[in-house]
Amino acid sequence: MAIRLGDEAPDFTAESTAGTIKLHEYLGSSWGVLFSHPKDFTPVCTTELGEVAKLKPEFDKRNVKVLGLSVDPLDDHKRWVGDIAETQGTALNFPLLADPDRKVSTLYDMIHPNANNTLTVRSVFVIGPDKKVKLTITYPASTGRNFAEILRVIDSLQLTANHSVATPVNWKDGEDVIIVPSLSNEDAKAKFPGGWKEVKPYLRITKQPNK
Ligand code: BEZ
Repeated sequence: MAIRLGDEAPDFTAESTAGTIKLHEYLGSSWGVLFSHPKDFTPVCTTELGEVAKLKPEFDKRNVKVLGLSVDPLDDHKRWVGDIAETQGTALNFPLLADPDRKVSTLYDMIHPNANNTLTVRSVFVIGPDKKVKLTITYPASTGRNFAEILRVIDSLQLTANHSVATPVNWKDGEDVIIVPSLSNEDAKAKFPGGWKEVKPYLRITKQPNK
């Protein structure tokens, strides 16, 4: 069954390039990004994993642990890691899960048979510290992901989890935000002492509160 926003991220135990991983235990109180790629030794996947390795400090800064996955066996992952280092100029610095029996990819509905019967699509799951799924995105095999966008969404998820705000179209960390419509003006005065601009009663713009 498909995993929906707000569902608990299914727990699992799987082998990875960094040893055995039990998802919930591994994440602890961190956020998590679990993402699948279709196949080892393929060009788009190679560039994606190199990019995620380069962005690791950005994920660390946000207290996010990253996990990649494909249905390839661990031996293939270990051989491919050398190619990633050679061609992308960076060592793989996060675990790559092996899923040859498709246990995890089935649990997370990462194989879409009408796209490809055997390979995982490019799924992304962002998991909160409460182990609930906060974001799902699915890309086809032919399109590499934009991991800067994943970081942007994580900034929004972490901000909106702690403040009564939502983020507008194309928002980036540091830009103005929207006061959630469910908050009355009276309550907003206490939470946003710097005030806000009321464009419409339902559209109130304020400075990002955690800056
Ligand atoms: C790739 O990563 O380049 C790729 C993988 C599977 C199908 C198509 C492209």
